[in-house]
Amino acid sequence: MSHYLLVSQIERLQLEPTSHCNLLCPRCSRTDNGQLNSRLPLTDWQPESYEILFSQIPNRQLKEVLFNGNYGDPITSKNLLHGLEHIKNNTSASLRLHTNGSLKGTEFWKEIATYFKSDKDRLVFSIDGLDSTNALYRVNSRFPKILENAQAFIQSGGKARWDYLIFDHNRHQVDEAQKLAKKLGFIEFNAKKTARPVNLKNSQQNKGDSLEVTQSVNKYGSWSDYIARSSIDCKFRNHVRGLFVDFQFDVWPCCWLGGPLYFADASDPRRKELENLVEHYGPNFNSLAHHSLDSILNHPWMAEELVKSWQMQSPLPKLRVCTRMCGEAFEASSGANWSNSHIQSL
Ligand SMILES: C[S@@+](CC[C@H](N)C(=O)[O-])C[C@H]1O[C@@H](n2cnc3c(N)ncnc32)[C@H](O)[C@@H]1O
Ligand code: SF4
Ligand code: SF4
Repeated sequence: MSHYLLVSQIERLQLEPTSHCNLLCPRCSRTDNGQLNSRLPLTDWQPESYEILFSQIPNRQLKEVLFNGNYGDPITSKNLLHGLEHIKNNTSASLRLHTNGSLKGTEFWKEIATYFKSDKDRLVFSIDGLDSTNALYRVNSRFPKILENAQAFIQSGGKARWDYLIFDHNRHQVDEAQKLAKKLGFIEFNAKKTARPVNLKNSQQNKGDSLEVTQSVNKYGSWSDYIARSSIDCKFRNHVRGLFVDFQFDVWPCCWLGGPLYFADASDPRRKELENLVEHYGPNFNSLAHHSLDSILNHPWMAEELVKSWQMQSPLPKLRVCTRMCGEAFEASSGANWSNSHIQSL
């Protein structure tokens, strides 16, 4: 057997407790041509979701629980504070949560700070610019309100990081933002490159910091040759030692793999591959509402087929998303653990 991971090997969980969000960032999968992606189910975890999930993993085993995903902002989740309380009371994991920071009032931010006071905890504010530029990508956000919320959080003892996606329209403000972050009491600043530049007309035309994808892949001949020939170093299995649980309470090996199921574009090959996968195994095959975590990890997909597919030794295809995110030629993720991120202590 080539298990993806066993329950006893899980060190980190990434959770997406909701698909709701108040913004419409143009290259986020929740938006489609500036509007909400109409294919996206809008759902929120139940309070008991946390008990169901965490009761299945030995208490002291988890090192980190991360709230971040593909479609929602965790701050919009109705049961978030209940979930944070449950995790703090029942595990020794540190907490990390990514948000656009623009929702709720200062009282909420003072309260949530109580869960982010240890050295390893981080509330990550995604702020891609200053007053004149943040809303060009973070569409519908108000910069002064975000700063007010961040200040309430930091002054209540919460450990905060400022994550800044670099686009052409905000590149000139990175240094100024970093100075402001230090002045406000953020303990880290992270200037991130993106493989998803802005290209909608409600944002300035720019190319962003797109990676040298074409050049890197050309040496394999074509994209299809690259998909077939590149080796895979699975980030979540080999490095994070983690799993992703999405807003439907479905378990995926990582945040990148499950996301394409709800892409707006029906012709996207990554969506088709996921649709084929779900059709092959049947609906709910990976649902925590229907199965235990142990049985999901021992289902043929995660017990064998996924890992074998990376060596093309499975009847299932090697998923494009696996080569895109964990192939040899280039780095597509802007996530904190990988080279497109540049976290600096302030
Ligand atoms: C879908 S968001 C969910 C969390 C939260 N709503 C936020 O924006 O931080 C997940 C991550 O995607 C990042 N993201 C959004 N647009 C991106 C882009 N064009 N390129 C790279 N990362 C992006 C966000 O900054 C965040 O770190
Ligand atoms: S704030 Fe996060 S979840 Fe919301 S639209 Fe922007 S990137 Fe997507
Ligand atoms: S995309 Fe595939 S190879 Fe990469 S972390 Fe996810 S499951 Fe592993």
